[in-house]
This record gives sequence, structure tokens and C-alpha cells, in this order.
Amino acid sequence: MAIAKVGVVGCGLMGSGIAEICAKAGLSTIVREVSDEFLKKGQERINGSLAKAMKRAIEKEKKDPTMAQMEMAQSIGRLSYTTRLEDLKDCDLVVEAIIEDKGQKQDLYKQLDALCKPSTIFCSNTSNISITELGAVTRRADKFAGLHFFNPVPVMKLVEVIKGVLTSDATLGELKGFSEKVGKTAIVAKDTCGFVVNVLLVPYLFDAIRLVENGVASIRDIDTGMKLGCGYPMGPLELLDFVGIDTTYHISVNMFEEFKSDRYAAPPLLKKMHLAGLHGRKTGKGFYDYTDPANPVPMKLA
Ligand code: 3HC
Repeated sequence: MAIAKVGVVGCGLMGSGIAEICAKAGLSTIVREVSDEFLKKGQERINGSLAKAMKRAIEKEKKDPTMAQMEMAQSIGRLSYTTRLEDLKDCDLVVEAIIEDKGQKQDLYKQLDALCKPSTIFCSNTSNISITELGAVTRRADKFAGLHFFNPVPVMKLVEVIKGVLTSDATLGELKGFSEKVGKTAIVAKDTCGFVVNVLLVPYLFDAIRLVENGVASIRDIDTGMKLGCGYPMGPLELLDFVGIDTTYHISVNMFEEFKSDRYAAPPLLKKMHLAGLHGRKTGKGFYDYTDPANPVPMKLA
């Protein structure tokens, strides 16, 4: 089966990026959000990102401006927006990127299972909820898998393809082909909490928080250390603010529950920041204060 029409459920940061890369790759893409307000926000984010990509193509890749504008208009033309889940019924692939809540995801999949054609493949962009457990509420566990993208989706080149216990080889094959079509390199992982990247990334981020807790170095110096010492594009504390302190805290709760290992135990400072609403860039304050977004200032964290 060739994937020609994609449904994206949830148009936040991840969903909008996923919808954008699908439309850019020539796929008819329908985006579903729960309200017109969220849909409008998502559409604005997608159009803003497409405009940024067009500007880059013209300025950096020296693409013909008329051609670049036409391609952007074509991408926009491939996108449609709805609040009705029924409008996704004839999609070949549905990618879900709603909040990381198992119950809400399972409710959604039950509805999609009743609506969509039997051949539709379902994928979750979850970073740590069991794919097998989500697929189990549908009658198509063989056509259910994980597709874990990275933020910002239009820029990061990786996607993790997650095989649930019952995911078929045919589904995996389709998803590898889809990943390539949308310009990503796929790595395949078993359905274990955190898959590959977060199993490695989360302990690293937590060690950086522990350095702050222990007063080993300043926030700025820890970030500078990893950027200049190891060539990372962002330091660990900048990355935590970028991913979200709340998101990282929820990931840690799930990973600790799964592995019962100190490696994934949330450092007390992470929990306190989460409770204090210091969620990073999205709330304007985290390890840095983003009052002036061009010049973030390290926070004084007691
Ligand atoms: N479409 C296409 N290209 C775009 C784009 C878009 N919408 N937006 C930006 N770009 C391009 C830019 O043109 C630029 O290209 P260039 O390198 O050829 O000049 C490049 O992307 C970088 O963009 P910017 O210059 O705007 O911004 P920065 O140089 O400051 O980089 C960043 C921003 C890409 C976010 C970089 O800091 C980075 O890579 N950070 C690390 C991000 C990361 O680690 N993400 C993974 C998080 S973990 C996760 O998501 C998993 C979850 O489960 C926790």
C-alpha cells in the first residue's frame, strides 16, 4: 500500500511539525484539533515554519524565489484542517501527537478504530507510553506502531520507529518508506520506555541538573561546557528549557516507573521547577529567563 493521505491528530509543537513535513513531501494531509482556536494556532505555526523554510531555501540554497514560493503554496494547498475526527476516515496513515496521557490516547484510538478503513495504519508520537498497550485497544495491533519525532520536527533528521509486540513486518516496512519520504532517517527500536534516544538523553540531562543542585558550576558554564567541549548545538539546561521542564518531568515519572532505576529518578530541582511553573521557553522561565528572547538570562534557582 502506498501512503498518500495522512491524518495528524493534535496540532501542537510536534503535530504541526509532522503535518508540515508530510505536506512538504507531497502527501495530502489533514490535521485535527479539538477546537477552532487550537486549529488556528496550529495552522499559524505551520505557515510560519513553511515561510521560514522558504526564506532559507532562497537565501541559503539560492533557490529561485518564484519556485520556492510556488512550492510553499503547494504545501499549504495539501493541508486541510478539521475539528471532526470522522474527516480522517479515509486516511492511509494516522499519526497521533496529542498530550502524553495514556487514557486520552486510548480513548482516541478506540474512536479512530471504529471510523477508519481497516487498512489504515495508526502511529503514536509518544516518547514513553507503551505502543503495545495503546495498540491493544484497537482491532489492528498489527497496523499499530510508534513514530517518535524530535523537536523541531522540520529540522531534526531522526525518527524512531517503534515496534509493538504485535506490529507486523509489513507495517514496519511501510513506516520506513514513509520516514524516508518525509526526509527522515529511521531507526527501529523495541517497545521499551524511552526507546533509544530518551534512554540515553534523560540521564545526561538529569546529571546536568545535579551539577546545578550541587553548585558545581553555573548554569551558563554547564551549557557552554557541552556546546564548546562536545559540539552540541544546545547545552543540557538550554535543551531542558526547549523540550519543557513539565514534559521532561512527566517522561521521568514514566521511565522511573518502568525501570525503577536512579538513572531516571527526577532530581528534586526538576520537580520543584515543574511545580513552580518554571516550564522553560513555553512559560518564559526555566533555567533561563526569556523576557528578552534574544538574550536569555540564567535564573537564580534556590
Ligand atoms: N524548516 C526548515 N529549516 C529550518 C526551519 C524550518 N521550519 N527552522 C529552522 N530551520 C533551519 C535553519 O534555516 C538553520 O539552517 P542552517 O543550519 O542551514 O542555517 C537550522 O535549521 C537551524 O535553525 P536556526 O538558525 O533558526 O536556529 P539555531 O541555529 O539556533 O538552531 C536548533 C536551533 C535547530 C533547535 C538547534 O539549537 C538544535 O539542534 N538544538 C537541539 C535540539 C534537540 O536536541 N532536539 C531534540 C530534543 S529531544 C526530543 O525532541 C524528544 C522528546 O521526546 C524529549
